[in-house]
Amino acid sequence: MKVDRVLVTGAGGQLGTVLVKTLRKLKGVENVLATDLHIKPEDKGLIFPLDATNEEAVAEMVLGNKITQIYHLAAILSAKGEEDPLLTWNTNLKSLFAILEVARKYNLDKIFFPSSIAVFGASAPKENTPQDAYLDPTTVYGTSKAAGEQWANYYFKKYKVDVRSLRYPGIIGYQSLPGGGTTDYAVEIYHKAVNKEPYICYLKEDTTLPMIYMNDAVRATLELMEAPAEKIKTRTSYNLNALSFTPSQVVESIKKWYPNFKVTYKEDYREAIAQSWPSSILDTQAQEDWQWQPHYLLDDISNEMITELKKKYNLHSQL
Ligand code: SER
Repeated sequence: MKVDRVLVTGAGGQLGTVLVKTLRKLKGVENVLATDLHIKPEDKGLIFPLDATNEEAVAEMVLGNKITQIYHLAAILSAKGEEDPLLTWNTNLKSLFAILEVARKYNLDKIFFPSSIAVFGASAPKENTPQDAYLDPTTVYGTSKAAGEQWANYYFKKYKVDVRSLRYPGIIGYQSLPGGGTTDYAVEIYHKAVNKEPYICYLKEDTTLPMIYMNDAVRATLELMEAPAEKIKTRTSYNLNALSFTPSQVVESIKKWYPNFKVTYKEDYREAIAQSWPSSILDTQAQEDWQWQPHYLLDDISNEMITELKKKYNLHSQL
């Protein structure tokens, strides 16, 4: 039987950290090569340096390690991206081109390219945003993802590269910290709660955003990637729904564990980004094509986040 040999870019990021662990369990440690631009001291020997915008370097890594699949997670996210729009565009698109070109030239089996709810803007319905809503993103990150989706579709149609993609909502997990996104508050808030510190939220209390728990996000990714190719009808990127909530709803949920948890609201530029995104997502195609179903609701997320973060911070005492 043919063994999958997987390359992951952006492996030190929020999703990469968990996806690499899961892939290593599934496919064998020796078959998953984790890479990132910068290697944190704790990741030395586990993650290897690779500039994914450098096609030659990507090709060398792929050929030298007999790679058959790439999960291309490296990107600059929505909030951070606004600090340097051209760098964000170059990083996100140049790296995608490097991956797509290597996949085309060396006949790789499959590519995963993450997209985001950030592809939607003012023209899309805010509630139950459908798969085929018009895309007029407000951030350079969203613009890079919307363009990336079209390039993924182009490489599939023109060169038969098997690229698959999900439009992730905000991802919440205890294993890693997000970096530079608009949805980061939904992770930070749990860290503050378990440490019994107050939290200052940069979004308004009633701003609703689509979110997903890490376990669901990783499962969605693997289910999409393991589905037979003929089932994958959407070759731009699939809408992916799990749940939607506001900051005040997270606070209500957290208060079931920490009744004295204090949150104040001081909005910044990220509020405008959040306002331009859908508040809920319709994912009929993902449900129909590869039977997507989320498992985690808000209190399930709070329960697991709080339990796991307490272990992480070594907080054994009860509440
Ligand atoms: N979570 C991402 C962000 O906030 C959206 O894809 O930028």
